[in-house]
Amino acid sequence: MDILEAIDNRKTTRKFDSIKPTTEEIKRIINSARLAPSAINAQNWKFIAVLNDDVKNKMANSVLNAYEKIIANLNNETKAQVERYKGHSTFFTHAPLVIVCVEEKAPAFMEGILEKAEFSPEEIKLMRPDSYLLSMGGAIENILLTAHSLGYGSCWMVAPVLGESGMREVLNLKENQKIVSILSIGRPAKDSTEKRSPKKDLNEIMEIVE
Ligand SMILES: Cc1cc2nc3c(=O)[nH]c(=O)nc-3n(C[C@H](O)[C@H](O)[C@H](O)COP(=O)(O)O)c2cc1C
Repeated sequence: MDILEAIDNRKTTRKFDSIKPTTEEIKRIINSARLAPSAINAQNWKFIAVLNDDVKNKMANSVLNAYEKIIANLNNETKAQVERYKGHSTFFTHAPLVIVCVEEKAPAFMEGILEKAEFSPEEIKLMRPDSYLLSMGGAIENILLTAHSLGYGSCWMVAPVLGESGMREVLNLKENQKIVSILSIGRPAKDSTEKRSPKKDLNEIMEIVE
């Protein structure tokens, strides 16, 4: 599939059939993350492909445990609002393939230099967007587009990261590793009626400075 066609037609899928991608397809998908640009070419990332239902369920339990703690002291109205997020955080258990996107801490050389030049923490924050996290975003988009071009639907998910501390135990992560997103991937269910979310008009988001 042509790259422009993939960009134009990719949309979030949250309902999948049960067909698992082959190992070759999983490798093809994660290889596209490997080839993404990254700040100072640090490539400080890992992508864990989870096919095992038991592991997926344990990950979802970590998310639900976090929700228990979050709602414990809320009033009923706010509790009901938070409860609605639960479904959008745990449906990855129904995805044939879950890719856990892990950022590995890399040294922040320039921050130290800016501190020495006596810029304030607020100034440094504005001068130094989180390059490593941005790199993760580029790699993740490559994954979604490659999955789409192989006929798979996907959902990029940050909500489950609420259960990060439990999930890192399930996945045996090292101290310098942090989960930043979870990707649900599978063939869109035949009865899926999901449409692409509406997008802003190009004129609203674009400016040309001549
Ligand atoms: C950083 C990021 C985090 C997201 N987190 C979630 C999530 O936790 N749960 C979910 O169901 N969808 C999540 N989404 C999917 C968005 O809701 C979806 O991309 C958006 O509505 C636009 O729809 P489209 O992907 O079909 O264009 C996330 C998307 C991004 C980029």
